[in-house]
Amino acid sequence: MSARVLVAVAIALLAADALAEPARRPAPEELLSGAAFVRPETRALQDDAFANPGLIWVERGAALWQTADGDAGTSCADCHGDAGTAMKGVGATYPKVVGGRLLNLSQRINQCRVDHMGAPPYVAAEHEVESENLLSLEAYVKTQSAGMPMAVAVDGAAAPFFVRGRELYFQRVGQMDLACAMCHDDRAGHALRAEPISQGHVNGFPAYILRWDGLASAQRRFRFCNDWFAGRSLGSCRLKFLFRRLPFLGRRCLSAHNNYPGSDSVGTFSKTRSYRHSNVLGHE
Ligand code: HEC
Ligand code: HEC
Repeated sequence: MSARVLVAVAIALLAADALAEPARRPAPEELLSGAAFVRPETRALQDDAFANPGLIWVERGAALWQTADGDAGTSCADCHGDAGTAMKGVGATYPKVVGGRLLNLSQRINQCRVDHMGAPPYVAAEHEVESENLLSLEAYVKTQSAGMPMAVAVDGAAAPFFVRGRELYFQRVGQMDLACAMCHDDRAGHALRAEPISQGHVNGFPAYILRWDGLASAQRRFRFCNDWFAGRSLGSCRLKFLFRRLPFLGRRCLSAHNNYPGSDSVGTFSKTRSYRHSNVLGHE
């Protein structure tokens, strides 16, 4: 699908917004994938493997998986073999504490490049917000967990990060004095202007966002939300904290391991959470 067609689709979708049915308003403990809040046309696009534009990134990731690189002249496949076997379930466990550091999946992939391939980490090209190659590999690895529930550990070494993430999630900041929870918990299912607010899950990321005309990481989405309601960027130190220490954002999946309200709806959760695992198209 060309960029122009996508833009046209996005514009058509936006125009249709005003006519959309009011989104469902879930009870706070009910876990619903972001997909539950989009219009049916967008969901149909997401479910269609031929039409879903995010799958272009997955295909690129599959090619990169086989591509030799770095001083060692190895590919991911040389060491890990078939991704469908080696990476099954792996994406569902990130972010994860590795050697004392909290890493998201893309950081973990870059670590492999540096440590095992003698290759430089992928970084965003100057004109890009994020590295296309890294996003592609991340989407490809994550796709191997399609249909599986999220399984992020929040105990042991991960506990302090989780606690900090929860604090940040409920902390009111910025000129508008808003917290993430005030939209994604208190107002889920309501519209912000024409846009329905979801519960803010990250299980579908990296996700294709029609409005941005490309794939985006969960970190980019956090940054966008934060900059938008805080009215200014947080200091880089605080931002890093938020991005790197926010496993709590998988809070509804985490609730299965944590006596957080909603822990009794694990079944619902695994169904809804897994929904977008097989898809990389986000909401509009
Ligand atoms: C030379 C061998 C080698 C190559 C090449 C390699 N890896 Fe790895 N990878 C490993 C080893 C060994 C581990 C286990 C942990 C460690 O020691 O880093 C690992 C761990 C991982 C993990 C974490 C798995 C988990 O269970 O958390 C991911 C994800 C990963 N590699 C992805 C990749 C990707 C993507 C590529 C290609 C860009 C790649 N690896 C290339 C050897 C390799
Ligand atoms: C003023 C309301 C508001 C606040 C506050 C807010 N967001 Fe959002 N957020 C939105 C809207 C609107 C969207 C796009 C529609 C959707 O998916 O919810 C969104 C989308 C998201 C998504 C993507 C969900 C998906 O399924 O694609 C994530 C993740 C997210 N926000 C995280 C956060 C985090 C983290 C914070 C706090 C730092 C935050 N948001 C604060 C309104 C808000």
